[in-house]
Amino acid sequence: MEDKINEIIARMEKLLPEAQTAAQVSNITASALGPNGDLTAIMKTIPTLEPKQRPLVGKLINKAKQAIESLAQAAYARIEQARKAEALGERPDITLPSPEVARGTIHPLTQTIRRICDTFKKAGFTVAEATEIDTEWHCFDALNTPADHPARDAQDTLFFPAGLKVENVSKHADELYLLRSHTSTVQIRAMLKEGAPIKIVAPGRAFRRDTVDATHSANFHQLECLCIDKGVRLTDLKAILAYLFKDLFGESAKIRLRPSFFPFTEPSFEVDFMTENLGRLSNRWIEIMGCGLVDPNVLKNVGLDPNEWSGYAFGLGVERVAMLMHSIDDIRHFYANDLRFLRQFAK
Ligand code: PHE
Repeated sequence: MEDKINEIIARMEKLLPEAQTAAQVSNITASALGPNGDLTAIMKTIPTLEPKQRPLVGKLINKAKQAIESLAQAAYARIEQARKAEALGERPDITLPSPEVARGTIHPLTQTIRRICDTFKKAGFTVAEATEIDTEWHCFDALNTPADHPARDAQDTLFFPAGLKVENVSKHADELYLLRSHTSTVQIRAMLKEGAPIKIVAPGRAFRRDTVDATHSANFHQLECLCIDKGVRLTDLKAILAYLFKDLFGESAKIRLRPSFFPFTEPSFEVDFMTENLGRLSNRWIEIMGCGLVDPNVLKNVGLDPNEWSGYAFGLGVERVAMLMHSIDDIRHFYANDLRFLRQFAK
């Protein structure tokens, strides 16, 4: 009896480690433990044995059962592991087309900023930036804007509460901080840092206490341009403006300057442009931005000698340019995050 049981175990020890599939494992195991298995057959003979022998044989059978079951478990585990290893070992086919990935698109304002910066880069300008939180000095005093100028009024500019300290923004003690109301602050910061000659464009956010409507937003974007060198004249300003509008709106674009006033430029102008291919706005003058020759007082405020240096500056509304370029009728579209609007600018 014992030999028979050991034979069965030996058979299992040989066959189960060789099994290739789970079905084979289950068949081999059943040939011992199943209803017609040989160990089951031995188990069925127990009642015919002498009462003394029965518990001994019963023990042997139980041990054999356990041994066979653990051999079967090991075989199942081995087969499963091999299957996984094979699946993992498969190399991806890199010649297959990649799955569709939903890619974001660049916001139309960012596209416009990049477009204008590219135009200026071709003309030798570099791109500069400065903080959106700035001091009253950088935003107004240094830009020759007198204390009683309406732009400095709390009705127009967003000031922080007095006494607020902002690291790295100001060197002047006891200053008032504000959200810059124009990007002209970058003129001051760039000249203080780099001196002259300098040729920069500075795109960025500006903030005003405006009531939001189709053409006004309390948070908008400007692109400042500053060029300081020896002997820069009004004709240089006109040339860069003519170049800019031709590059943005086509060869038919023309510009004209109308006298205006800004505290930081002298003389100052409003720029109008006209072009042939702007839908219902074609062939009429469109007011677009302010410009001028940098006021000698501004140069003095940043430590440059106005007898040695001169230059021009202008500030362009990015939303306004984007609205004209794409016939957009409401500035609020830019900030509403409506995908039906934004997807129209997907490239
Ligand atoms: N800073 C002016 C504005 O916000 C624009 C401007 C910039 C005008 C530079 C002249 C020179 O309206």
